[in-house]
Amino acid sequence: MKIAVSGKGGVGKSSLASLLILAYLERGFKVLAIDADPSPHLARLLEVQGEITPIAEMTDLLAERAQKSGPYYTLNPRVEDLPEKFMTIKDGLKLMVLGAIKSAGTGCACPEQTVLRRLLTYLLLTAQEVVIVDMEAGVEHFGRGTVAPIDVLFVITQPFRGSIETTKQILKLAEELNLKNVLVIGNKVKESQENLLKDEFGERFIISFPPDEEIERRELEGRGLWDYRGQLFQKALELVDFVEDLRK
Ligand SMILES: Nc1ncnc2c1ncn2[C@@H]1O[C@H](COP(=O)(O)OP(=O)(O)OP(=O)(O)O)[C@@H](O)[C@H]1O
Ligand SMILES: [Mg+2]
Repeated sequence: MKIAVSGKGGVGKSSLASLLILAYLERGFKVLAIDADPSPHLARLLEVQGEITPIAEMTDLLAERAQKSGPYYTLNPRVEDLPEKFMTIKDGLKLMVLGAIKSAGTGCACPEQTVLRRLLTYLLLTAQEVVIVDMEAGVEHFGRGTVAPIDVLFVITQPFRGSIETTKQILKLAEELNLKNVLVIGNKVKESQENLLKDEFGERFIISFPPDEEIERRELEGRGLWDYRGQLFQKALELVDFVEDLRK
């Protein structure tokens, strides 16, 4: 399963992507997390240490099919084929960051978004592996079709006009890309606001996460979410079960 998390800036993409990653790990999956935000936060939220070489520099692996050279080149790499240089490993989690391409002319002089799209397209997963991509805020990457190869797109929305409008814009772009499982997730939604999202998004709206004081506290204290097992973790487990039902 390849999952991308999108939405307007600040709606909670990285927080919910992290919780989803933790929930998948809890269910025994191996997770490849990809932080596609140019200012990445997943390493901090998942309390992963160490430098990570951005996959934007994984030029050999992702060179055009015609250029079959380079030590890492594989046509359809499996997660275990991906060079460890580009990831940090923590238990069942592998974390990669997209980053930015530093210099052109190193095999794949393409924008980072193209590198990510190729990786998502060619990567082969086993049934016990999942890829979770924390997307850059907004809609720019939709124009480049970066999310075209994914199986499930989550659009995070808050119960505010601006966020709802961006969500609608994303839904429209996702339709143009023929994406199948495009699902709206509410964040920081009070019970009294759930109906608003149901009215706006109908069946696409599948679950909402309430405002959570522990998340706020951890943020203020500069702590990540690795050992967070509060109410939003339970919601994330529900979400995993929902997504895994889509396979059937
Ligand atoms: N359900 C929640 N309850 C309380 N605080 C939350 C909740 N979800 C997210 N937050 C807080 O909201 C802020 C923004 O969340 P986050 O960084 O996950 O958003 P984002 O969409 O990834 O932002 P960006 O667009 O900058 O990447 C963070 O301080 C986070 O701790
Ligand atoms: Mg983020």
